[in-house]
Amino acid sequence: MTSATIRPASDYPPGGDAFRHRHLTGIAQLTPWEISYILDAAEQWVELNRAGAAKHDDALRGLTIINAFFENSTRTLLSFEIAGKRLGADVVNMHAAQSSVKKGETLIDTAMTLNAMRADAIVIRHQSSGAVQLIADKVDCPVLNAGDGRHEHPTQALLDALTIRRRLGRVEGLTIAICGDVLHSRVARSNILALTLLGNEVRVVAPPTLIPPAMERMHVRVFTDMDAGLDGADVVMMLRLQNERMDGAYLPSPREYHALYGLTPQRLAKAKPDAIVMHPGPMNRGVEIDSNVADDPARSTITEQVEMGVAVRMACLDILTRRTRKVPGWN
Ligand code: NCD
Repeated sequence: MTSATIRPASDYPPGGDAFRHRHLTGIAQLTPWEISYILDAAEQWVELNRAGAAKHDDALRGLTIINAFFENSTRTLLSFEIAGKRLGADVVNMHAAQSSVKKGETLIDTAMTLNAMRADAIVIRHQSSGAVQLIADKVDCPVLNAGDGRHEHPTQALLDALTIRRRLGRVEGLTIAICGDVLHSRVARSNILALTLLGNEVRVVAPPTLIPPAMERMHVRVFTDMDAGLDGADVVMMLRLQNERMDGAYLPSPREYHALYGLTPQRLAKAKPDAIVMHPGPMNRGVEIDSNVADDPARSTITEQVEMGVAVRMACLDILTRRTRKVPGWN
């Protein structure tokens, strides 16, 4: 495994210019410089997490982080919780299923309630695209988007970029095929934005019914044939079929989908011999990806993506709370 060179903090411009945003609502707001800044910061947390020392880091001691999840989640919620706790913060989780949202409270009222509790950061997942920005506009503390509808999932794209950079030594000049249910995927959207911005060739591979309109405007190449889309790729990123977001029949059957778009060892052979295979999870094994590909440690980065998720979220929580914590140079 290779690791890209970490730039020392002193290489970045002083005065907080290395990252000038109050919230992290999407990759669309970031520059390549800001993405690298977060990845470099996360790189240091990876090492500390592996050494087991990070549990005692108290950079965020005395701060309260609310994870407000209006939609189901396993790895994103857990990794934000672990990230906050490793930095010494108090972390509170709000699950919509048990909250007043179920009693009909509006999003704005929920936002005002969260704000009144004087959290130091709020992490939000919501089923509606744009809901996170709406809350960010109403509250006084930094807001981090943990996935809003089909819109963005910025920390997923950042952890994917970090995983690629560590595995392949760089995250520029690569050919990256994003395959599957692009239409319903905020992971795809954030990754397309991040990976094109960093200077990679991004391909989208999907059945015509699962390709969003005007994809070319996002500077990607569109393929409906999987073998052609994977040809010569350095990275094969698989997406889950998001059945819960489908409001009709987009596909004949999961079996037919697997026959045409499932990642099998034979199909993977079209990519470069050392191409890596990614999946944000949760996986539909035997539908978009075969177990013998997903579980091959030489090719699959799936568990490493989860590990990078904690480090990236530590970096984001640390960076976004620097103004509140009055870290010198961050006013
Ligand atoms: C993704 C999500 O929720 O958008 N999962 C995740 O965050 N790891 C992708 C998915 O649900 O398929």
